[in-house]
Amino acid sequence: MTLIRLPKTAPSLGHPLERLLAQRRTLRAYSGQPVSWAKAACLLWAAQGVTDAGGLRTAPSAGALYPLEVYLLAGAVTGLEPGIYRYQPRSDAVLRLASGDRRAELAAAALHQDWLVDAALTLAFAARYARTTWRYGRRGVQYVHIEVGHAAQNVQLMAVSLGLGSAVVGAFDEARVASLLGLPAEETPLYLLPVGAAA
Ligand SMILES: Cc1cc2nc3c(=O)[nH]c(=O)nc-3n(C[C@H](O)[C@H](O)[C@H](O)COP(=O)(O)O)c2cc1C
Repeated sequence: MTLIRLPKTAPSLGHPLERLLAQRRTLRAYSGQPVSWAKAACLLWAAQGVTDAGGLRTAPSAGALYPLEVYLLAGAVTGLEPGIYRYQPRSDAVLRLASGDRRAELAAAALHQDWLVDAALTLAFAARYARTTWRYGRRGVQYVHIEVGHAAQNVQLMAVSLGLGSAVVGAFDEARVASLLGLPAEETPLYLLPVGAAA
Protein backbone atom coordinates (compact mmCIF):
# COMPACT_ATOMS: atom_id res chain seq x y z
CA MET A 1 0.00 0.00 0.00
CA THR A 2 1.23 3.49 -0.83
CA LEU A 3 0.06 6.73 0.72
CA ILE A 4 -0.29 9.45 -1.93
CA ARG A 5 -0.90 12.91 -0.53
CA LEU A 6 -3.26 15.25 -2.33
CA PRO A 7 -1.64 18.15 -4.15
CA LYS A 8 -0.84 21.01 -1.71
CA THR A 9 -2.84 23.43 -3.81
CA ALA A 10 -6.14 21.74 -2.93
CA PRO A 11 -7.96 23.32 -1.26
CA SER A 12 -6.34 26.62 -2.16
CA LEU A 13 -9.33 28.71 -0.99
CA GLY A 14 -8.97 30.58 -4.26
CA HIS A 15 -12.29 29.45 -5.66
CA PRO A 16 -15.58 30.78 -4.21
CA LEU A 17 -17.00 27.28 -3.71
CA GLU A 18 -13.92 26.25 -1.73
CA ARG A 19 -14.49 29.14 0.66
CA LEU A 20 -18.15 28.22 1.15
CA LEU A 21 -17.30 24.58 1.81
CA ALA A 22 -14.46 25.44 4.17
CA GLN A 23 -16.61 27.91 6.15
CA ARG A 24 -19.75 25.77 6.36
CA ARG A 25 -20.23 24.85 10.03
CA THR A 26 -23.16 23.92 12.22
CA LEU A 27 -24.02 27.15 14.03
CA ARG A 28 -25.91 26.92 17.32
CA ALA A 29 -25.24 30.40 18.74
CA TYR A 30 -27.33 33.04 16.96
CA SER A 31 -27.35 36.80 17.56
CA GLY A 32 -31.12 37.11 17.25
CA GLN A 33 -30.63 39.73 14.51
CA PRO A 34 -33.30 39.63 11.79
CA VAL A 35 -32.60 38.28 8.31
CA SER A 36 -34.01 40.13 5.30
CA TRP A 37 -36.81 38.65 3.23
CA ALA A 38 -34.46 38.88 0.22
CA LYS A 39 -31.95 36.58 1.97
CA ALA A 40 -34.69 34.21 3.15
CA ALA A 41 -35.85 34.02 -0.48
CA CYS A 42 -32.30 33.07 -1.57
CA LEU A 43 -32.31 30.22 0.97
CA LEU A 44 -35.66 28.91 -0.31
CA TRP A 45 -34.40 29.09 -3.87
CA ALA A 46 -31.22 27.20 -2.92
CA ALA A 47 -33.37 24.50 -1.34
CA GLN A 48 -35.69 23.75 -4.27
CA GLY A 49 -35.67 26.65 -6.73
CA VAL A 50 -36.52 26.01 -10.37
CA THR A 51 -33.46 26.55 -12.59
CA ASP A 52 -34.69 25.24 -15.93
CA ALA A 53 -37.59 25.87 -18.28
CA GLY A 54 -38.59 22.22 -17.92
CA GLY A 55 -38.95 22.59 -14.14
CA LEU A 56 -35.65 21.08 -13.00
CA ARG A 57 -34.37 22.43 -9.69
CA THR A 58 -31.25 23.45 -7.73
CA ALA A 59 -31.02 19.98 -6.13
CA PRO A 60 -31.08 16.67 -8.02
CA SER A 61 -34.12 14.42 -7.67
CA ALA A 62 -34.52 10.76 -8.62
CA GLY A 63 -36.61 10.70 -11.80
CA ALA A 64 -37.18 14.47 -11.35
CA LEU A 65 -40.17 13.54 -9.19
CA TYR A 66 -39.45 16.13 -6.45
CA PRO A 67 -40.82 14.55 -3.26
CA LEU A 68 -39.64 17.36 -0.97
CA GLU A 69 -41.75 20.22 0.35
CA VAL A 70 -40.04 23.21 1.94
CA TYR A 71 -41.59 25.21 4.78
CA LEU A 72 -40.36 28.50 6.16
CA LEU A 73 -40.86 29.27 9.84
CA ALA A 74 -40.21 32.99 9.88
CA GLY A 75 -39.47 34.48 13.29
CA ALA A 76 -37.39 37.59 12.59
CA VAL A 77 -37.48 38.15 8.83
CA THR A 78 -37.64 41.83 7.92
CA GLY A 79 -40.31 42.40 5.31
CA LEU A 80 -42.18 39.18 6.07
CA GLU A 81 -44.71 38.71 8.85
CA PRO A 82 -43.73 36.04 11.42
CA GLY A 83 -45.49 32.83 10.50
CA ILE A 84 -45.38 29.52 8.70
CA TYR A 85 -45.11 29.48 4.93
CA ARG A 86 -44.85 26.83 2.21
CA TYR A 87 -42.49 27.45 -0.70
CA GLN A 88 -44.05 27.11 -4.15
CA PRO A 89 -41.02 26.41 -6.40
CA ARG A 90 -42.83 26.73 -9.72
CA SER A 91 -44.16 30.21 -8.97
CA ASP A 92 -41.13 31.16 -6.78
CA ALA A 93 -43.54 32.32 -4.09
CA VAL A 94 -44.56 31.38 -0.58
CA LEU A 95 -48.04 30.59 0.66
CA ARG A 96 -48.77 31.83 4.19
CA LEU A 97 -50.30 28.99 6.20
CA ALA A 98 -50.28 30.51 9.69
CA SER A 99 -49.33 33.75 11.41
CA GLY A 100 -47.24 34.31 14.52
CA ASP A 101 -43.76 33.59 15.84
CA ARG A 102 -43.66 29.84 16.44
CA ARG A 103 -39.95 29.50 17.27
CA ALA A 104 -40.47 28.55 20.92
CA GLU A 105 -42.86 25.78 19.91
CA LEU A 106 -40.38 24.57 17.31
CA ALA A 107 -37.55 24.44 19.86
CA ALA A 108 -39.76 22.48 22.26
CA ALA A 109 -40.71 20.05 19.46
CA ALA A 110 -36.99 19.67 18.65
CA LEU A 111 -36.42 17.97 21.99
CA HIS A 112 -35.89 21.34 23.69
CA GLN A 113 -32.94 22.47 21.59
CA ASP A 114 -33.63 25.95 22.92
CA TRP A 115 -31.03 27.66 20.75
CA LEU A 116 -33.50 27.32 17.84
CA VAL A 117 -35.41 30.27 19.32
CA ASP A 118 -32.56 32.66 18.44
CA ALA A 119 -32.36 31.68 14.75
CA ALA A 120 -34.14 34.27 12.62
CA LEU A 121 -35.85 31.57 10.59
CA THR A 122 -35.93 27.83 10.10
CA LEU A 123 -36.47 25.97 6.86
CA ALA A 124 -38.21 22.64 7.35
CA PHE A 125 -38.09 19.86 4.77
CA ALA A 126 -40.97 17.42 4.56
CA ALA A 127 -41.27 14.39 2.28
CA ARG A 128 -44.11 13.07 0.20
CA TYR A 129 -42.66 9.59 -0.24
CA ALA A 130 -45.37 8.38 -2.62
CA ARG A 131 -44.16 10.79 -5.31
CA THR A 132 -41.01 8.68 -5.54
CA THR A 133 -41.99 5.22 -4.25
CA TRP A 134 -44.72 4.69 -6.87
CA ARG A 135 -41.89 4.39 -9.37
CA TYR A 136 -38.94 3.11 -7.33
CA GLY A 137 -40.59 1.08 -4.57
CA ARG A 138 -38.69 0.63 -1.30
CA ARG A 139 -35.52 2.09 -2.81
CA GLY A 140 -37.49 5.27 -3.37
CA VAL A 141 -37.50 5.85 0.40
CA GLN A 142 -33.71 5.91 0.33
CA TYR A 143 -33.79 8.27 -2.65
CA VAL A 144 -35.95 10.74 -0.71
CA HIS A 145 -33.49 10.68 2.19
CA ILE A 146 -30.56 11.22 -0.15
CA GLU A 147 -32.38 14.14 -1.77
CA VAL A 148 -32.98 15.99 1.47
CA GLY A 149 -29.23 15.88 2.06
CA HIS A 150 -28.59 17.48 -1.33
CA ALA A 151 -31.11 20.24 -0.63
CA ALA A 152 -29.88 20.87 2.91
CA GLN A 153 -26.29 21.22 1.72
CA ASN A 154 -27.45 23.80 -0.83
CA VAL A 155 -29.10 25.80 1.95
CA GLN A 156 -26.05 25.61 4.24
CA LEU A 157 -23.74 26.82 1.46
CA MET A 158 -26.13 29.61 0.48
CA ALA A 159 -26.29 30.69 4.14
CA VAL A 160 -22.48 31.01 4.22
CA SER A 161 -22.51 33.00 0.98
CA LEU A 162 -25.08 35.40 2.51
CA GLY A 163 -22.90 35.96 5.58
CA LEU A 164 -25.19 33.85 7.76
CA GLY A 165 -24.85 30.61 9.67
CA SER A 166 -27.10 27.58 9.79
CA ALA A 167 -27.53 24.21 11.39
CA VAL A 168 -29.08 20.92 10.41
CA VAL A 169 -31.40 19.35 12.95
CA GLY A 170 -32.70 15.82 12.77
CA ALA A 171 -33.53 15.37 16.45
CA PHE A 172 -37.18 16.32 16.86
CA ASP A 173 -40.54 14.83 17.71
CA GLU A 174 -41.98 14.04 14.28
CA ALA A 175 -45.64 14.30 15.32
CA ARG A 176 -45.13 17.63 17.10
CA VAL A 177 -43.28 19.18 14.15
CA ALA A 178 -45.90 17.86 11.71
CA SER A 179 -48.64 19.39 13.84
CA LEU A 180 -46.80 22.72 14.21
CA LEU A 181 -46.29 22.97 10.43
CA GLY A 182 -49.87 21.84 9.76
CA LEU A 183 -48.62 19.08 7.46
CA PRO A 184 -51.14 16.99 5.56
CA ALA A 185 -51.18 13.27 6.50
CA GLU A 186 -49.11 12.28 3.44
CA GLU A 187 -46.14 14.49 4.44
CA THR A 188 -43.41 13.51 6.90
CA PRO A 189 -41.05 16.10 8.41
CA LEU A 190 -37.42 15.11 7.78
CA TYR A 191 -35.02 17.91 8.55
CA LEU A 192 -34.92 21.38 10.13
CA LEU A 193 -32.44 24.10 9.08
CA PRO A 194 -32.30 27.06 11.44
CA VAL A 195 -30.55 30.09 9.90
CA GLY A 196 -29.40 33.41 11.28
CA ALA A 197 -26.48 35.70 12.03
CA ALA A 198 -23.79 34.35 14.32
CA ALA A 199 -23.78 35.63 17.92
C1 LIG B 1 -28.71 13.87 9.92
C2 LIG B 1 -28.15 14.89 10.89
C3 LIG B 1 -28.88 15.25 11.99
C4 LIG B 1 -28.37 16.21 12.87
N1 LIG B 1 -29.15 16.61 13.93
C5 LIG B 1 -28.68 17.57 14.77
C6 LIG B 1 -29.49 18.02 15.85
O1 LIG B 1 -30.62 17.59 16.06
N2 LIG B 1 -28.98 18.99 16.64
C7 LIG B 1 -27.74 19.54 16.43
O2 LIG B 1 -27.35 20.42 17.20
N3 LIG B 1 -26.96 19.13 15.40
C8 LIG B 1 -27.39 18.16 14.56
N4 LIG B 1 -26.63 17.76 13.50
C9 LIG B 1 -25.36 18.47 13.23
C10 LIG B 1 -24.12 17.67 13.60
O3 LIG B 1 -23.99 17.63 15.00
C11 LIG B 1 -22.91 18.34 12.94
O4 LIG B 1 -23.09 18.31 11.53
C12 LIG B 1 -21.61 17.67 13.31
O5 LIG B 1 -21.32 17.93 14.67
C13 LIG B 1 -20.45 18.15 12.44
O6 LIG B 1 -20.28 19.55 12.60
P1 LIG B 1 -20.37 20.54 11.33
O7 LIG B 1 -21.73 20.43 10.74
O8 LIG B 1 -20.12 21.89 11.94
O9 LIG B 1 -19.30 20.15 10.37
C14 LIG B 1 -27.10 16.79 12.64
C15 LIG B 1 -26.37 16.41 11.50
C16 LIG B 1 -26.89 15.49 10.62
C17 LIG B 1 -26.11 15.14 9.38
